[in-house]
Amino acid sequence: MQGKTIVLGVSGGIAAYKACELASRLTQSGARVHVVMTQAATRFIAPLTFEALTHQPVHTSLWPDAGEQAASAPPNSQPPTSNLQYAAMAHIALADSADAVLIAPASADVIARLAHGLADDLLTTLVLATRAPVLVAPAMNPTMLAHSATQKNLATLRELGYIVIEPESGRMACEHVGSGRLPETDVLIQALPDAMADVGARHALPLHGKMVLVTAGPTREALDPVRFLSNRSSGKMGYAIAAEATRRGARVLLVSGPTRLQTPPGVARHDVLTTQQMFDVVTQHAPECDIVIAAAAPADYRLANVAERKIKKTKIEKSGAAEAMLRLELVPTPDIIAQVGHGRKPHQIVVGFAAETGNELDEARRKLRDKNLDALVFNDVTQPDAGFDTDTNRVVWITRDSDEAWPLLSKDEVAARLWNAIESIAPGR
Ligand SMILES: Cc1cc2nc3c(=O)[nH]c(=O)nc-3n(C[C@H](O)[C@H](O)[C@H](O)COP(=O)(O)O)c2cc1C
Repeated sequence: MQGKTIVLGVSGGIAAYKACELASRLTQSGARVHVVMTQAATRFIAPLTFEALTHQPVHTSLWPDAGEQAASAPPNSQPPTSNLQYAAMAHIALADSADAVLIAPASADVIARLAHGLADDLLTTLVLATRAPVLVAPAMNPTMLAHSATQKNLATLRELGYIVIEPESGRMACEHVGSGRLPETDVLIQALPDAMADVGARHALPLHGKMVLVTAGPTREALDPVRFLSNRSSGKMGYAIAAEATRRGARVLLVSGPTRLQTPPGVARHDVLTTQQMFDVVTQHAPECDIVIAAAAPADYRLANVAERKIKKTKIEKSGAAEAMLRLELVPTPDIIAQVGHGRKPHQIVVGFAAETGNELDEARRKLRDKNLDALVFNDVTQPDAGFDTDTNRVVWITRDSDEAWPLLSKDEVAARLWNAIESIAPGR
């Protein structure tokens, strides 16, 4: 960030307080940070806080009679261009000076205004006037985010070339749980260098313009309100594939079961818990995607009847020895990748993963054919350095025509090889 000028747009949402840490960290990393606040943002955080953190005047109005620049500028502040001293042209000076504009948090309202090209305050006006990349980090209540108006506006922003930093899931200030949280400061900061990279270079990336869906992690099937069936998948392989696809220019939707992993920068993540939920999200989005990679380990079975209350151990113990056994009745869950494989469009590429406990390559080849896949990544999870929760993997890349055993590689390297292999399938698809 050394020597970079970042315009940090702060709009009116609860997460505005998180922009203080962001402004501070960017300043400490050597960036010159110009904070531009909407009027609503000033109801949440005082401009003075940002001034103190960035050592720069804070801008809150398009109109010079607001007079905030001159009045609030600390005596030793150094404006990036002389134009900035003239409040009347602040929007142009700020727009010209920016290496990147980052709006965090971006309210539903500011997203709507940007999507419609409005220029009714300093922030929206300077966004129209800048040639710098503009990053937008939405933060709002999950229902506001899921509203089709907000989703349509975000889709418009992406089409217009804005970089939308996907919100994270979790508990919100409004007590709701779901997607809409401002991502961690690290994730926001990490998104900046990529955005500032030459736009032309991004267009030349091999997966530019491709929409990719990746599944990752395990799923959970409840036994009762406190217990579940799951598996040892960590999600590391799928996350590495999603991260590599973004680096190669794709737009990526990561459909993830429960993991401890951070969302890779630039990746849109949709969290699910059960196989049925993963099935629903994947089958909803797969038709819009060019490439689907199923690296998740969804549970193949779920309980026929989930107990409404915790299954008590005492009841089982009190019964005779024969009845002390707890029998669970399991029914199959839907086969996600088979559904995608059979419903695919001619241009789509579909790749599956098969985790087996032994060298069952014939079984993997059968899956490839039966599920109508282009390729299947086979791994024997009984090997100590491959499969679940390791940082390395040893896989066989199986296509309709051939098998290729790859050596022991880090999961990042497997992801890179996988994309090299897919790119060689891609032409003409
Ligand atoms: C207490 C409170 C919290 C709010 N939190 C959010 C929020 O997190 N995200 C959001 O989009 N809007 C939120 N709003 C609504 C916005 O502040 C409102 O839409 C405002 O017009 C946004 O203006 P701006 O886009 O110019 O900043 C909140 C409002 C209040 C009163």
